[in-house]
Amino acid sequence: MLQALLLTAGVAAAYSLPNSNGAPVPLAKKCGPSSSKIVCMHKYASVMPYHFYREPSNGKDPASGNFAQTNVSDPSFAQVAGADIIVYDEAALKILGDKPSVKKMFDIEKKGHEAPVYVPGMEKIFFGEPAAPAPLHQFVIDLNKEPPTLGPHTFDPPIYAPNGATINKGKLYWAQSGGSKTLQGGRLEARPGIVAVDPQTGKSETILNNFYGYYFNQINDLVMDSKGDIWFTDPQYAWFSNLSDTPPRLQPSTYRFRPSTGAVSIVEDTCVQPNGIAISADEKTMYIADSGSINGDVSDSVQARSGVAFNGTTVGRAIYAYDILKGKFLANKRPIYIAQDWIPDGIKVATNGYLVTGAGLGVDVIDPEEGTVVMRIQTDFPVQNLAFAGKDRKQLWMVGVGGVARVTWELEGVKLE
Ligand SMILES: *[C@@H]1O[C@H](CO)[C@@H](O)[C@H](O)[C@H]1NC(C)=O
Ligand SMILES: *[C@@H]1O[C@H](CO)[C@@H](O)[C@H](O)[C@H]1NC(C)=O
Ligand SMILES: *[C@@H]1O[C@H](CO)[C@@H](O)[C@H](O)[C@H]1NC(C)=O
Repeated sequence: MLQALLLTAGVAAAYSLPNSNGAPVPLAKKCGPSSSKIVCMHKYASVMPYHFYREPSNGKDPASGNFAQTNVSDPSFAQVAGADIIVYDEAALKILGDKPSVKKMFDIEKKGHEAPVYVPGMEKIFFGEPAAPAPLHQFVIDLNKEPPTLGPHTFDPPIYAPNGATINKGKLYWAQSGGSKTLQGGRLEARPGIVAVDPQTGKSETILNNFYGYYFNQINDLVMDSKGDIWFTDPQYAWFSNLSDTPPRLQPSTYRFRPSTGAVSIVEDTCVQPNGIAISADEKTMYIADSGSINGDVSDSVQARSGVAFNGTTVGRAIYAYDILKGKFLANKRPIYIAQDWIPDGIKVATNGYLVTGAGLGVDVIDPEEGTVVMRIQTDFPVQNLAFAGKDRKQLWMVGVGGVARVTWELEGVKLE
């Protein structure tokens, strides 16, 4: 009745829902604590009023063709672009706590940054810059200072272009992604592999650098299980981004490495470009991001080494879950997520089971039991990898192309130390 009155009075919104007699419900509304700009989407914006249209990405710029840029004739949708956090499932608001904040902490060089790893006790976060020409130093954020500080940090011997990292029993394990024999004017050679580092002394030790004599392609990201086995992804990006002097020799795959014996076992060979990897806290499930929408040319040509393009039309960009069998093998591959912005990159796990993944200009928070995205953090730079940090592990640090940002909330990262 009221609606009919409004309509006749001509004050109804100037847009309409398809095949519906109801008044349009705004797609976006302000919600949650006021410490951040938070918008809640009405039922995942699953019905948009006509006319709407979303441009695909231009293939080069992760900022192009974003969800927020969807052209939709609902004025409430304009709030999406400026939001720090887009909430799709209001039941998940509780993970934000009373005073969530999303803050850009550092502007850094507009190159890729990856492999953040938090060292409890030292209260430091190390991360790397695996982008050509890659430096032989990494970076360290000192959380003992307020505000935290950022500076370069070199290990001994240096690590070349690390793209993933984890910590176990106080030691750091870096996924070295680049391969070159002309580092330091030819005095240093490095190959994709795994490098263990004592963060207290800075001394590093290569614990894997080949597969029966072949160079790995890249070694992108890794996790360690409680037995001490390291599971790592080996896509081909080092070649496409000129971080390797040798074209790929191996099919993109995921492996399990046992440092105590040196054995490397293949566990997955169906992803187009396996990228981020994470293990559930109960070690029953492995998660692998396939960033195959970003691919390149494996030929030995200059063109092949000049970058990659995004094409979401032909190849996927999903996170897959797998059952871990006997602590050794992966089975029952199933997609649980597809990035609606760019590709899924690094993945980390929270104590409640949720996953966070860098995807385009932000981070998606995924409930893997439901296969749903419950919310999205928006940043002004492409997020490539993440680390939970702080004494309570309720800070999520995000690193990527040109930036470092931090979310503080109630979502707690799984303990790594
Ligand atoms: C975007 O929306 C406006 C207003 O509804 C419309 O005039 C325009 O044609 C739309 N553009 C596209 C590409 O759909
Ligand atoms: C790749 O890097 C080498 C230095 O390692 C440089 O000489 C070459 O120009 C780069 N190639 C491309 C296509 O950027
Ligand atoms: C993606 O690939 C398809 C098939 O090759 C092609 O038609 C399309 O133009 C590509 N899109 C972009 C943005 O490159």
